[in-house]
Amino acid sequence: GTETKTLADGTAIPVLGLGVWQVRDGRDCEDAVRWALEAGYRHIDTAQAYGNEGSVGRAVRDSGLARDEVYVTTKFNPSRRDPVAELERSLERLGLDAVDLYLVHWPAGGPTWAWKGMQRAHELGLARSIGVSNFSADDMAAVLAGADVAPVVNQVQFSPFEFRRGLQEVCASRGVALEAYSPLGTGRHLDDPQIAGIAQRLGRSPAQVLIRWSLQRGLIVLPKSTHRERIAQNADVFDFTLADEDLAVLDGLDRTGGTDSALERPWW
Ligand code: A2P
Repeated sequence: GTETKTLADGTAIPVLGLGVWQVRDGRDCEDAVRWALEAGYRHIDTAQAYGNEGSVGRAVRDSGLARDEVYVTTKFNPSRRDPVAELERSLERLGLDAVDLYLVHWPAGGPTWAWKGMQRAHELGLARSIGVSNFSADDMAAVLAGADVAPVVNQVQFSPFEFRRGLQEVCASRGVALEAYSPLGTGRHLDDPQIAGIAQRLGRSPAQVLIRWSLQRGLIVLPKSTHRERIAQNADVFDFTLADEDLAVLDGLDRTGGTDSALERPWW
């Protein structure tokens, strides 16, 4: 799980990370992050709105790994006003001097108003890289048009069933890397018969097939689990590849019609 990709600002990001959305603060979250780091993950994705930054920070600090060996992302809760003040609070909860990546969690109140504050957080060295999440192609264009420091990442829900080709093309053309959250469809895609069929033939799990698809489609992928063996299994995806025929079958599961929207149904 230590393969990396270079972002547009020149920094390296591990292509596989642990997502901790809906992981309860405290023991559940600390265990998940600790197990992930033990299994070789070097990238943890949290957010102010998840309420578990304290646990993430504790597990990262207790791991004994050097700070620069673990990539930590958090996200600005845009129902608040000031990205710098909120990041300072996040860093206090995390017990870290800076995050590797700071994202606007969703385009609340429009896609652009928070960006100045995000740039300031970057300038102050509190965030090595800055980006956005849940932004559509139009939202991306609006931010990029007024940015001095461009977002290097857009994190959206992405899987064969939510294959946002339009958004992917726009992001690629502007040097914005896409990150996939809920790459397993929050678990719903694991029962799909076509995915199960491919998994069975390859002697892999459906989760591994979905994670591999995200990687081979160029995404940074953030599966979530709180079970130790699943956390390990989800990172054990660098010793096989999906053939073009299997990728094509998975591509065909898309239900977005190639839309460029970031989400089917905004959840905020
Ligand atoms: P759990 O956390 O109980 O292990 P997503 O990453 O798309 O949000 O999906 C997360 C969901 O998928 C969670 O409910 C998680 O359950 C489940 N999950 C994650 N990895 C696996 C796996 N390898 N096998 C089965 N279920 C998994």
